[in-house]
Amino acid sequence: MKKIVILTGAGISAESGLGTFRAEGGLWAQHRIEDVATPEGFARNPKLVVDFYNARRAQAAEAAPNAGHLALAKLEAEFAGDVVLITQNVDDLHERAGMARVMHMHGALSGALCAACDHRWPAPMVMAPGDPCPSCEKPTARPDIVWFGEMPYDMDEIFDHLAGADLFASIGTSGNVYPAAGFVAEARRHGAQTVEFNLEPSQVGSQFDDLRIGPATQTLPIWVDEILAG
Ligand code: APR
Repeated sequence: MKKIVILTGAGISAESGLGTFRAEGGLWAQHRIEDVATPEGFARNPKLVVDFYNARRAQAAEAAPNAGHLALAKLEAEFAGDVVLITQNVDDLHERAGMARVMHMHGALSGALCAACDHRWPAPMVMAPGDPCPSCEKPTARPDIVWFGEMPYDMDEIFDHLAGADLFASIGTSGNVYPAAGFVAEARRHGAQTVEFNLEPSQVGSQFDDLRIGPATQTLPIWVDEILAG
């Protein structure tokens, strides 16, 4: 086996104390998506949106990578072939676990973006509405997060990776949001083996060859050792 492509979702960061979206009391039970995760919400009330991401940036800074993040970093470091990690998460726990290559398809809390000139720069811990862009100096800074209705990042590269995957693993995602929920079908179409890691089958669980039920901090270290022993 030469190439493993991995997709992660909020579930891999749950045991680090970061909330998931659709569980009981999850982020989307506390905030309306249309208010805090859409361009329209940002236009309507930029302070509400910027403060929502300031809070999540602070929580992520307080969190630590868990055994699931560390297992994937070990796989990347020790697997003889290619490991490509695509995450829907905007926290930096994969990087802090030592993962070298992380594709943030939904953006990252660590990034700021200029809505006027597309310039990107490292986000401060606390952003405020109307922060100036360091490049064009317009008051148009925003979190570099992909909101609903916006195009996820790196899609062409992601589909190239899926086409070349020998194994596709999806970890801690409910399979509710496309295009990520469609990655398993794309990988299968190109002949990949597929495995899902979750507490319960996701919305697309039936499309996987293998289902590893349990907390990622337990299932991933076992899986990584199996792969490295293979
Ligand atoms: N181990 C493994 N899986 C877990 C764990 C755990 N410890 N805890 C929770 N999960 C699983 C849940 O069972 C659920 O299927 O993680 C999944 C989390 O699902 P969501 O809350 O829907 O998060 P996610 O799938 O990442 O959401 C996708 O939706 O709102 C947008 O942009 C946002 O990136 C996000 C996208």
